[in-house]
Amino acid sequence: MDSRAERTMTRNLTALLAGASGLVGGECLKRLVESAEYGRVIVVTRRDLGAPARHPKVTQLVIDFERLGDERDVLRAHHVFCALGTTIRKAGSKARFQRVDYEYPLHLAQLARMNDARHFSIVSALGASRSSPFFYSRVKGDVEQGLRAMRWPSLAIFRPSVIAGERGESRPLERASEHLLRLAPATWRPVAASDIAAAMVAVAIESPPDVTIIESRDIAVRARSSR
Ligand SMILES: NC(=O)c1ccc[n+]([C@@H]2O[C@H](COP(=O)([O-])OP(=O)(O)OC[C@H]3O[C@@H](n4cnc5c(N)ncnc54)[C@H](OP(=O)(O)O)[C@@H]3O)[C@@H](O)[C@H]2O)c1
Repeated sequence: MDSRAERTMTRNLTALLAGASGLVGGECLKRLVESAEYGRVIVVTRRDLGAPARHPKVTQLVIDFERLGDERDVLRAHHVFCALGTTIRKAGSKARFQRVDYEYPLHLAQLARMNDARHFSIVSALGASRSSPFFYSRVKGDVEQGLRAMRWPSLAIFRPSVIAGERGESRPLERASEHLLRLAPATWRPVAASDIAAAMVAVAIESPPDVTIIESRDIAVRARSSR
């Protein structure tokens, strides 16, 4: 096969990304536009991303996630990446937090699945469990369960510990835990946002069948093996 034909073969995937204005989502966007496997990246966001959205591969949809269903026809992609998330403090209540970390990802997944998407990748969290005593971990466990119930041909769940990277906002508690956890066993050690993104894209390209859980300690290894 000549190199032109090969390029045509490898640049045919469309990615759909939610959370691109965030730390992990921003890194995912960089990876996706650099990847030869993806010819198009649809970004759903609630605010204009600026320069990254002007890349020729990128189609930006600035939307209100409360009205995600209105966008159903354009949410068409082979692979979906969800790095949405908030905190109870930022969202203002547990119910608002749940909308962003549970309802929006599941709604996005349902719409993309109806449009025949084949792989869904989500950033969950270390300790996600429906039976956790912690509300945050329970919501993450619930969203994981909701996605499993949709029976994706390929579902990847990433469960990072504290995420390390440069943020535009100050999160002193996360910063403090990041410093403390650098000395902790691998299970709890912070994970770089760039490693999570690299691993998400690598696993999506591979699209292993059924459900793949990538625990925090394995994320950097997955990311390294993709380079
Ligand atoms: N931070 C950590 O240490 C940590 C650890 C483990 C797991 N996680 C999980 O990892 C995921 C990604 O984390 P991150 O640190 O990359 O998140 P982040 O930087 O806070 O980004 C979150 C993304 O979600 C979007 N978002 C928030 N509220 C929204 C709303 N109401 N409507 C539409 N979009 C909304 C944000 O958009 P705007 O920019 O418009 O707000 C942003 O794109 C989250 O699910 C988080 O729970 C985080």
